Amino acid sequence: MVVRPRRNNNSHLESCPKTMSQIETVCREFHDLFGMEPEFVVRAPGRVNLIGEHTDYNDGFVFPAAINFEVVIAGNRRNDDQVRIHSLVFHQTSTYSLNKIDYDGEYKWSNYVRAISDQLVKTGHSPSGMNAVVTGNVPLSSGLSSSAAIEVSSCLAFEASGRFTIDSVDRAVLCQSAERQFVGVNCGIMDQFVSANGVKDHALFLDTRSLDFRPVPLPETGVSIVVCDTNKPRGLVDSQYNKRRSECEEAVSVIAQTDPDITSLRDVTMEQLVVHEGEMKREVFRRARHVISENNRVLKSVDLLESGDIDGFGKLMNESHVSLQKDFEVSCLELDTMVEAAWNVSGVYGSRMTGAGFGGCTVSLVKSDFVDQFEQQVQAEYRAKTGLDATIYVCSAEAGASRIR
Ligand code: GLA
Repeated sequence: MVVRPRRNNNSHLESCPKTMSQIETVCREFHDLFGMEPEFVVRAPGRVNLIGEHTDYNDGFVFPAAINFEVVIAGNRRNDDQVRIHSLVFHQTSTYSLNKIDYDGEYKWSNYVRAISDQLVKTGHSPSGMNAVVTGNVPLSSGLSSSAAIEVSSCLAFEASGRFTIDSVDRAVLCQSAERQFVGVNCGIMDQFVSANGVKDHALFLDTRSLDFRPVPLPETGVSIVVCDTNKPRGLVDSQYNKRRSECEEAVSVIAQTDPDITSLRDVTMEQLVVHEGEMKREVFRRARHVISENNRVLKSVDLLESGDIDGFGKLMNESHVSLQKDFEVSCLELDTMVEAAWNVSGVYGSRMTGAGFGGCTVSLVKSDFVDQFEQQVQAEYRAKTGLDATIYVCSAEAGASRIR
């Protein structure tokens, strides 16, 4: 597709992370720690969303791809109720009993693993104890879904150790419920879904209401997916995310007064919204306008990609950014600066913030011959205007989670 991962001497243009070495490392560390070979190794990727932002919790459409950054877990079944998991990223070991799964306030990363086992127990599965080592190269707190990657890989690890399997759509739903109920983040389904169901060299067109999905091939050559991390910590994201959710619900409740069949913004057309404009706060109207216009953009963008119109696709990415910036108000100075810098580079089809916002990453579609120029120009302009260094990755679209052995 897109996206031949590149190598470059410039330290800010990251080359493709080598999953093979992650597998070797995790197996070696497992052996050192537990004195035996692991019985299973599983992996789950992070994601980048090409278009369709803040639509998933409104029953809408999204268009993400799983990427070449992933979490890898090596493990063994234990014949008791103990889970002992060591993180090579945090250099910490967390141990707990499946009979008493508490939130860990100290080793917070372990809560994603705990959450999955808790949800498996609650949904009638029988996870067994396990010894495991986890590592990963999904950048943390960057909006590339490191949490979905650890959730989905943990689910696969518990399936392997407990000797049962869950369908990959159900796995995504289970992981989302785990994050909402145990970790306490009221997320939509997009991240877990694409981590569990991604297809190599494709983006996933997903209807988050029905969970019907269709892999859409990305261009085989000449187009690169470039992800730029603003390296701005995402401070406000949790509280503002929940606020946006309730503003969307407020818009629905106003419109549902006259049309009770409407249960989410997915059901509302732009014409209907405009009819009710005077009955809702200006801010609430703008939030709804973003979601409705973004759903329309996703539908159009899938058609454009399928007909090979990358220019048209890129324009919709740009429109999506402006809508997120002005109507949904989840962008920030750093994201806007990065996107505007990308818009100024020749060879850029489109660029927008990706993920929840308030920091994190942008995604750009760039003609592959222009990637070096993109890197130099965007890095220089971003540094000059914000004083921060960007980290720039050329990504490939990868398969969803799998058991490697
Ligand atoms: C986060 C959430 C997703 C989605 C995006 C915004 O990544 O986990 O469910 O809502 O934000 O599109």
